[in-house]
Amino acid sequence: MKKNQSNAPIFETVLEHAKKRMVSFHTPGHKNGRSIDKKLLDFTGKKVYYMDVTVFPEVDSLHDPTGCIKQAQELMAKAYRVEHSLFLVNGSSVGNEAMFLSACKPGDSVILSRNIHKSVLGGIILAGIWPIWIQPKIDQNLDVILDAEPDQIAETIKKFPEAKAVFLTSPTYNGVTSDLLEIANICHENNKLLLVDEAHGPHLRFHRDFPISAVEAGADMVVQSIHKILSAMSQGSVLHVNSDNIDINRVKKVVSMLQTTSPNYFILSTIDLARRQAVLHGERLLGQVIQAAEYGRKKINRLKTFTCFTRKDIRSRGYDLDVTKLTINVTKTGLTGLKIEDLLNEEYNVQIDCADIFNLIAIMGIGSTRADVDRLVNALEDIEKKYHGEQKNWNLNLPSLTTEMVLIPRDVFLSREYKRVSLSKSVGHISAQTLTPYPPGIPILIPGERITQEICDYLLELSQKDIRISGQENDALKTIRVVK
Ligand SMILES: Cc1ncc(COP(=O)(O)O)c(C=O)c1O
Repeated sequence: MKKNQSNAPIFETVLEHAKKRMVSFHTPGHKNGRSIDKKLLDFTGKKVYYMDVTVFPEVDSLHDPTGCIKQAQELMAKAYRVEHSLFLVNGSSVGNEAMFLSACKPGDSVILSRNIHKSVLGGIILAGIWPIWIQPKIDQNLDVILDAEPDQIAETIKKFPEAKAVFLTSPTYNGVTSDLLEIANICHENNKLLLVDEAHGPHLRFHRDFPISAVEAGADMVVQSIHKILSAMSQGSVLHVNSDNIDINRVKKVVSMLQTTSPNYFILSTIDLARRQAVLHGERLLGQVIQAAEYGRKKINRLKTFTCFTRKDIRSRGYDLDVTKLTINVTKTGLTGLKIEDLLNEEYNVQIDCADIFNLIAIMGIGSTRADVDRLVNALEDIEKKYHGEQKNWNLNLPSLTTEMVLIPRDVFLSREYKRVSLSKSVGHISAQTLTPYPPGIPILIPGERITQEICDYLLELSQKDIRISGQENDALKTIRVVK
């Protein structure tokens, strides 16, 4: 298999084409880089623009592949040992939407934990799904959210036997993976599809010291951001389909409907190359990243005010951990993660993936090195010496989110029959808004849901604090959009 895997059909085809320096009477309009802004051209060089081509027979079509794209997708499917892999040029966001649209019919219900990326809600709205929510758990010791456990999924399936599928996010932003083998068993014993957002796990399959990936565990459909951890350019993702219960022709139609007809061949080439690299060199390269991450974790845990949970900590809670994600708890510093994120940025030129009050999340990828880790750890050490905040008594908590879904989110989104009410008087109304505070970074209200006293109190309390609330349509969150 490795012999074939040393090919990169899209990259090779596009490169051959680029070398011909052909006169272009097709899109894009920059004409092999000629009209690209000079400053940009000085920075990037000119060659790369010869690879920015459009669809023609030589370079194949993403929407009806018969040549190099077809071959590259087949190599991808072989690399992950799945039946079909479809390339995505709009990230896993489009993959999540495609999973709902291709696996479900309008009005189907899907069981899912609330710990979701916003594109999942997009998929629910587009496909007309009734969501059946599972309450995620908060771990107060680690200040993180843990996703649905197998028992919760089994119980929910029993309660809602009509559900078509179970949707899971694994790994989470923190690198925590669910017991996917057990969950896949539960789903399949009960004739439910298992759909997994594995945006953060395209690398798991390529090193034995990672948790089991969704593709290996037997999920029916899995979306992965090749660009997040492996070496594709941003937007490069893949949708794997591995199930007799999914109509692959429908999936292809849906993916085609959601994607641009002018895919960027540079992105496609890097998806192709990232697969080749992962298959041929993943074990070695990812092994180095694991070592660097564990070295960093140890050093961080030797600092006085920063801690970074370990795989053992997570395993003892019934989950597993991709150790290349460093969740760095900052609560002992007296500063917020957001403040430390700014300091790292401004004073140390170190950029982390995201932060909230409690944690910094540093994501490592196939290109990460031990020297990068040293930069981060040294900066944290310096911050610890220089900055001292006041200890705060903040707790990560969640209101009950398994509330009444009165209307299907799609109907609320499309109807536009809304009015605004004061947040403090919103109890009993049906939300027409999605509100996602950071932390916890999961939607507290979504369209179609009855607003409970508990949720209202929670949002009122958050509105008094310095917390970013995504979806908020006015600064102080004084009013909220509800169904008329
Ligand atoms: C869990 C999860 N799913 C999906 C996505 C969307 O992925 P992409 O950026 O590839 O569209 C993200 C992005 O951050 C994510 O964290």
